[in-house]
Amino acid sequence: MNTALPGRVAFAPGRVNLIGEHTDYNDGLALPMAIGLGVEVSLTPSDGPGLVLESSLGTAQIGPGAEVAPWASLAAELAGRLGAGAGVVRVRSELPIGAGLSSSAAFSVALALALGAEPLPLAIARLCQEAEHATGAPVGLMDPLTVMSGVAGHALAIDFATLGVTPVPVPSDAGFVVVDSGVPRTLGASPYAERRGQCEAAAAAIGRPLGRADPGDLQRIADPVQRRRAAHVVSECERVREFAEAVVGSDLERAGTLMVASHASLRDDFEVSTPELDRLVEEACATDGVYGARLTGAGFGGCLIVLCRPGTALNLGVRRWEVAPSPGARVRDDAGVA
Ligand code: GLA
Repeated sequence: MNTALPGRVAFAPGRVNLIGEHTDYNDGLALPMAIGLGVEVSLTPSDGPGLVLESSLGTAQIGPGAEVAPWASLAAELAGRLGAGAGVVRVRSELPIGAGLSSSAAFSVALALALGAEPLPLAIARLCQEAEHATGAPVGLMDPLTVMSGVAGHALAIDFATLGVTPVPVPSDAGFVVVDSGVPRTLGASPYAERRGQCEAAAAAIGRPLGRADPGDLQRIADPVQRRRAAHVVSECERVREFAEAVVGSDLERAGTLMVASHASLRDDFEVSTPELDRLVEEACATDGVYGARLTGAGFGGCLIVLCRPGTALNLGVRRWEVAPSPGARVRDDAGVA
């Protein structure tokens, strides 16, 4: 007979950003949504000296005096911040790693909830962001905030200056397909931090965050590279506003056109696309039933997001997933661990 042990199981979804890229750390706007695929973390208390982490990547010991394997460093940072006791943590993920679907935010949010953190979206998002920063990935708040705040059938309009999250209903005739370019990347090893630095320098030149700047401010940025980075952020925030209006008005043609313009801006002004992503976006847009496509997430590889009529046949990329706007992270307190 199986004995049910006290335990806690938490699930956190991945996210896909529909539009509004590299805007979160600029006090700008974005429109991501949580997706059905995610990470499940189950905690079984034990007498051991600390936490034992078991995942498809291996088994790692986390706790006082333990030398932590690099893949387990995010878990160790979170466990340290939450003062986690002893236990066995089992991780089951449906999300590809390094594909831009926020596998690390989903993992850290699920782990924080499994370790007993209060399910307050902003507090958890900040905790997970700090832990990621400590591992060398200077991420913004978009990923953990979306993972926590997801609403079924809705994308989330997030204003990173106020941290207000407004659910935006997505029409039922909008289909979303994530296509993997097959080029993995890790944020720590990508030029992500360099882009952040260029944005900070541009914001200093005009005296306000780029997410709050106007096109007229751009001429005050002397450095041509910084000016192009800023031009992307300023135009991208305007596209987020227009995209949200288009979605609410069920104008999917318009929404698709804005996604294509976002991709072009990320390719030409922000320079975070890859030839493979550009080719896939072009091919997707040439497919019957597709309204638009763009790279999603940080870029430098990873996935694209395609807006299309539901059921559109897309034979692109290495892997692809049909996704739908889904609820955010949750705890299943009553779960017995057999
Ligand atoms: C990564 C980061 C986010 C955001 C995006 C780009 O996903 O984790 O905070 O900056 O890149 O929009």
